[in-house]
Amino acid sequence: MKILVLNGPNINFLGIREPEIYGGNTYKDLIQFVTDYAVTRGVGVEFYQSNHEGDLVDAIQKAYFDKIDGIVFNPAAYTHTSVAILDALKATSIPTVEVHISDVASREDFRQVSYIRQVAKKTIAGKGFAGYTEAIDFLIEYLK
Ligand code: DQA
Repeated sequence: MKILVLNGPNINFLGIREPEIYGGNTYKDLIQFVTDYAVTRGVGVEFYQSNHEGDLVDAIQKAYFDKIDGIVFNPAAYTHTSVAILDALKATSIPTVEVHISDVASREDFRQVSYIRQVAKKTIAGKGFAGYTEAIDFLIEYLK
């Protein structure tokens, strides 16, 4: 089983950006945490992060050709704006779990809209890095 862990804009700034919201750990720490967990679950994980909407669309299309089984996806700010990313997920039909480090439900009004939620098999928010590993657990069960 191959899972793509896809992250959107400013996730590369974890540890620097608003630590009171996103914590003090870095993107590198996130990769390590998820990689270690994937080993214990016996699944392969690939990582991609971009600050650019079209790059994320390209990564989703590439995942289709690479026969990726599932996507753990934190689209970050594009969650709330991107029809292009929604369409890419619809086009490829790759089972996707939407993850947010922070509890978006308790934040600003503009964060209450998610274009991704309508295609996501599950949405996990407010659990920090543990949301990513919970998403892996969900995909393993879902893809059985
Ligand atoms: C986020 C929440 C988004 O609203 C925000 O734009 C982000 C990160 C999260 O992980 O909590 O960049 O997706």
